Amino acid sequence: MPKRRIFLIVGARPNFMKIAPIYKEMKKYAELFEPIILHTGQHYDEKMSKIFFDDLELPKPHIYLGVGSGSHAVQTAEVMKKFERELERLKPELLILVGDVNSTLACSLTAAKIRYGSDRLHKCWTNYDQYIASRNITALQQSKKQSNDRPLIAHVEAGLRSFDSDMPEEINRTITDSLSDLLFTTCVDGDENLIAEGFDTRKIFFVGNVMIDSLQFYLNRSEKSTILDELAAHRDGNGSIRRYALVTLHRPSNVDDPPMLTAIVTALTEISKEIPVIFPVHPRTRKLLAQSGESLRRKIDSSEILFTEPIGYLDFLHLQTRAALVLTDSGGIQEETSYLGVPCLTLRPNTERPITIRAGTNKLVPLRREAIVADAQNMLKLNHVRPAKIKYWDGNAAERIVHVLADIIAGN
Ligand code: UD1
Repeated sequence: MPKRRIFLIVGARPNFMKIAPIYKEMKKYAELFEPIILHTGQHYDEKMSKIFFDDLELPKPHIYLGVGSGSHAVQTAEVMKKFERELERLKPELLILVGDVNSTLACSLTAAKIRYGSDRLHKCWTNYDQYIASRNITALQQSKKQSNDRPLIAHVEAGLRSFDSDMPEEINRTITDSLSDLLFTTCVDGDENLIAEGFDTRKIFFVGNVMIDSLQFYLNRSEKSTILDELAAHRDGNGSIRRYALVTLHRPSNVDDPPMLTAIVTALTEISKEIPVIFPVHPRTRKLLAQSGESLRRKIDSSEILFTEPIGYLDFLHLQTRAALVLTDSGGIQEETSYLGVPCLTLRPNTERPITIRAGTNKLVPLRREAIVADAQNMLKLNHVRPAKIKYWDGNAAERIVHVLADIIAGN
């Protein structure tokens, strides 16, 4: 049987740790799959991209589109133009998309509209149709008409919703879900959201969290990281950093708005009077901080915030595991801290990962200086939060995904 050609799409930093376990699992079925890693180049700095390939032991991307930065429209359009050529050139049978970044949206949109019939592709669609029909989970499912001249689209991390359309990620994930043939969910919320939106339940597969697969796999290795010693040496030449808070901040709603950025960073300077704050700075945030006013800069200069370049996967895991508190506006870090049992304050009015709040490890903090400081002080009093036990956050999500794919598209 000919191998099924699969594109695994990555574009931005949070994609790499999600694709890595799926790629490695697929490589175990060398007779079934030809996995091809396609990197759009949305993130391109060494510290936002290459370091993750090294840390996660991924091969260099087989295809690199090099799209770089731009407005949402420009970035999305650049990915679409270049991605379409690769689809036409290599005619994959399936693409695997993860998460909610602009690259995810651009590739799903392109694949949903392209047409290149082939015998191999039609065979995959026949297998898929039969498989989905055999999963008659609920009685009243109406299959939509769809072309079998385009690749199948699988979305990993489907169904997450912040219900906040001001977030570009919410638009990206909602549209990608609507264009996908296979919806792989990380938690029960994902299934519930998709069902509430009327998705065909036969296309939904609750498989767990691939990011936790990577975390589990690399946790031991991250123990050996020397990042804390390096940061301590950088800070004062000797000494060590024992108890600290860890910060990440990059959401446009937090960093593009100067008063909001000032409120958050001022809160961090105050928190740093109680506990050193380690703050690896995203390029977007760096740019905006550089434009901040004199008074904020003075506060920063007299604070105990340790600003660093963006940090690689293993070093960041090391820092996360040992942090007394994490303050973040990232999505994935809310999940990682939950799994690790590290208290997390999320600097956002909402989250598409409410399961982390229910688990008791994560709290949304009102975006006001005093509230951030007060919540941080309260969280720091907790000696310990219990690691969340969430179904299928167990290191085997990629295995479940690849099993489904082997059953469906590689079936005879
Ligand atoms: C993107 C994702 C966001 C994800 C985040 C993780 C979208 C809409 N957003 O946001 O969901 O949480 O990645 O980092 O896809 N830049 C560099 N070097 C790089 C990458 C970016 O300097 O390697 C700068 C560029 O000036 C760029 C800005 O950062 O304009 C923002 O990058 P972009 O990819 O547009 O969005 P992120 O804010 O990184």
